[in-house]
Amino acid sequence: MPEPDAVPGADASRWDARHAVAGPVVPMPPDAVRGREHLLPAGGRALDVACGRGGVAAWLAGRGFAVDAVDVSPVGLAAGAALAPGVTWIAHDLTTGLPVAGPYDLVVCQRYREPSLYPALAAALAPGGLLVITVLSEVGDSGGQFRAAPGELVAAFADLVPLAIAEGGGEATLVARRRE
Ligand SMILES: C[S@@+](CC[C@H](N)C(=O)[O-])C[C@H]1O[C@@H](n2cnc3c(N)ncnc32)[C@H](O)[C@@H]1O
Repeated sequence: MPEPDAVPGADASRWDARHAVAGPVVPMPPDAVRGREHLLPAGGRALDVACGRGGVAAWLAGRGFAVDAVDVSPVGLAAGAALAPGVTWIAHDLTTGLPVAGPYDLVVCQRYREPSLYPALAAALAPGGLLVITVLSEVGDSGGQFRAAPGELVAAFADLVPLAIAEGGGEATLVARRRE
């Protein structure tokens, strides 16, 4: 598979440098559903937003999902492409919005927080589709501009039906389903 095109910008080079020195990547479920994988749809289309080196996208592909995976870092995407060539790896700056249209049966966004993207994540869900999102949180941490305020995810995705909500230890998680 050809390497995804580079995306210009500071985020890309900063994350390229981090991904380049990270250890081997292995397929892994999204943290928020580990041990409760029964919450996931049986299959269909999945989107991994800010997929990093692709461990989650590769795991989803292994479960039979048709996966699109988006990240700004060509180095991260290349690691993912080596792990799971069948995933569609997309280089894109998510501060400009989502580069793909739904509907997706599953949207995962793990450890990337871009509040301007929240409406697009919800809109990308198919009826009955599942959102799995984890962001850095002020709850259990000293705070900072990159962290979600208490209740941010629940408020942003109020139209979805929450299945699991957690805040603490500097992270916030929401697992929620779009109504049929
Ligand atoms: C903390 S990592 C999380 C990676 C992966 N989701 C995981 O859980 O392992 C954050 C990811 O967001 C990506 N990222 C940062 N800024 C971005 C942007 N503006 N557009 C797209 N991806 C971005 C980085 O390249 C990095 O892979």
